[in-house]
This record gives sequence, C-alpha cells and structure tokens, in this order.
Amino acid sequence: MSLARATVPLAGAPFLPAGPPYSAAALRAWAGVEFDLPPLDPRLRALHSGGAEPSPALANLAGYVDGWARYPHYLDTLAPDSPVHEKKLLERALTLHRWRAMGGLATLEQGPMGGNGAPPQRILDLGCGIGRFACWFLDRGHEVTLVDGDLRSLRHAVWHAAGGRGALDAWWTTAELLPPVAETGPFDIAVLAEILNYVERPEDVIRAVSDRLTPDAAILFSVEARFGWALATDVAPGLAEGFFGGLAHRSGDRHVRCYTEIELHQVFAGWSVSLAPSHWVLSGPFEMAVGADVVHGVVDDEAGVLARMLDWEDRFEAHPVSAPLHRAWVGVARRRPANG
Ligand SMILES: C[S@@+](CC[C@H](N)C(=O)[O-])C[C@H]1O[C@@H](n2cnc3c(N)ncnc32)[C@H](O)[C@@H]1O
Repeated sequence: MSLARATVPLAGAPFLPAGPPYSAAALRAWAGVEFDLPPLDPRLRALHSGGAEPSPALANLAGYVDGWARYPHYLDTLAPDSPVHEKKLLERALTLHRWRAMGGLATLEQGPMGGNGAPPQRILDLGCGIGRFACWFLDRGHEVTLVDGDLRSLRHAVWHAAGGRGALDAWWTTAELLPPVAETGPFDIAVLAEILNYVERPEDVIRAVSDRLTPDAAILFSVEARFGWALATDVAPGLAEGFFGGLAHRSGDRHVRCYTEIELHQVFAGWSVSLAPSHWVLSGPFEMAVGADVVHGVVDDEAGVLARMLDWEDRFEAHPVSAPLHRAWVGVARRRPANG
C-alpha cells in the first residue's frame, strides 16, 4: 500500500507532506524510521516475519529476510561503507549507459533538471530494492513509485531518497499484484532492473505493467543471462540447473530464471525490444581476470572508470569464447505500433 498508509508502531509516523507523490525533500524526517505498511499482496506479511515462501518464485523474498539479518551491508549497496558500494555503482553506470545507447533515457535526461521545461517523468520502479536506480531518477527531479516485495529493502529506498530531489511514493507488494492504476495513475516509464528473473510468470508481469503505462511509454529492463549467470562468483553451489534448464531454485533462498535472447523476446511479445548483451566484467571469471580494482575511483570519476570498463566489455563481446558468457541482458522495450 502507498506510503499514505505508513505507520510507526509505538513512536508514531513522522509528518507526511501533501501527496502522493511526496516531495523527497519533505520526507527528510523519514530517513532511518522503521515504518510499517499494509502489504497489498497478503502473502508478504508472513514471509516478512520469517515464514516459508508460499510459492517457489517468492523464495527470493525469503532469502532477503535472511540476508538483512545476516549481511545487511551487502544488501544496502548505496551505503558508502558497503563492501560492494563501488561495484554496484559501476554496474548501475553500465546499465544506464546501455539504456542511453538505446534511446531509453532521452525523455529523462531532457527534463526536468535537463531544463527544457518538460514535466517530470512518472516512473514505476518495480523491484526497486534499496533504490539504486530510483535515486538516480529522483536526483534528476522525476517522480518515482517504488515497488518491492521486501519491506526492509523498500524502507532503505525511502531512506536513501529522503531529503533529496524529486517526488515519490512506495508500495509494499509483489510484481504479481501491482498497485491499481486507478490509485497510481499511468506511468511514462517502467524500470524493471533485475526483477524479471524472480517473478512467477514473467509474461503476466509484463501485461500488468503494460496496463499501467501511457501509450508511448518505455520499459527499461535488465535480467540475468542464461549462461553467464552460472559463472558468477555470487551464485550459490547447487544452482547449476540455471545454466542447463534456465531455472535455478533453492527453497528459502532463491529462485532464478536465466534468459536466452529468444526467451526474452517471448516475454515481451507485442513489444519492440532493443537488447544488448552486457556485464562480462563485473561477474565471474572475467571479473577475477580483469581484477576487482576495475571499480576503484567510480565515486569521483564515474565516466572515466566506466570508459575503462567499456573497453574490457567490448573485448569480451568481440571474443568468440567469452561472447556468449555475458552475465546480463540490458534492454528497452516499446509498444509495437498496432499496424507494425
Ligand atoms: C536483485 S534486486 C534488484 C534491485 C534493484 N532493481 C537494483 O537493480 O538495484 C531484486 C529485487 O526484487 C525484489 N523482488 C524479488 N521478487 C519479487 C517479487 N515477486 N515482487 C516484487 N519484488 C520482488 C527483491 O526484494 C529485490 O529488492
């Protein structure tokens, strides 16, 4: 449910400005406040308290409950002291670079901070996590509706945004039960960064997202790729089935669907999709070969570090052995014209 329904047990919720959307600047007092929200998807309350996943795909959400208890610094990647802060920022820069090259960021970078007088874009960030992409859009003055099935991640997204630019709302729900468009209004852009791997029926999610978009809207997405994913250093033992069959499952931990190009086009049937293989360097044997120091300096010199990384990306893409072993697909989808 929307942040409008947020409560803070015992202490009481801080002042909520007019909205939704809520001015991020006016939410400053919400930073660090452990608010509760009624989950729109009723399955989430028991999961949040440590219950077993009610369906295989929701194993990821059970895994996050455990993760926040055991290694919170690895999950809150926007915190400067996170061990993977630089890596996750560089990965974000790479994904944005790919979306930009496909024309997916044009409306976002023109207005409103781009200064051409266009209104802010209305963005649905589905599976927003701790707000890695949401904060980038908010920093540019746009309106972001944060949606995640993990309340702890969603809270961190609100905390990172609080006091900054743009305007937001936050919904605790699943990709399987999205906020009603009658309440949110339609969106100009949907951001689906690393979420289509974790949902029950990806085609249904794309249909439900589509129902919440304006006619000219774009979906910016990234997903784990079938063959590169299995080589990643953060893949747990026993999950090699993701390489062979495309689906890796471990109860209470994770459920990952890894895509081939053909499978992605099936999920986006009826959409025109630009797709780029990506993410050789920050994952698996290529990450180790290039060296972890490839990320150093990204906080102060993102463009320079990204340029060096793109040289490596190009070389791995050009080599016949490494070419099919990329970790991710990055894409932009637009509705195909009715007569197209
Ligand atoms: C790998 S993280 C990506 C986070 C963010 N988009 C980013 O790129 O930094 C996946 C996120 O999806 C959320 N998630 C997983 N399954 C979900 C589901 N069925 N519905 C909604 N959110 C889900 C998780 O809680 C997690 O925050």
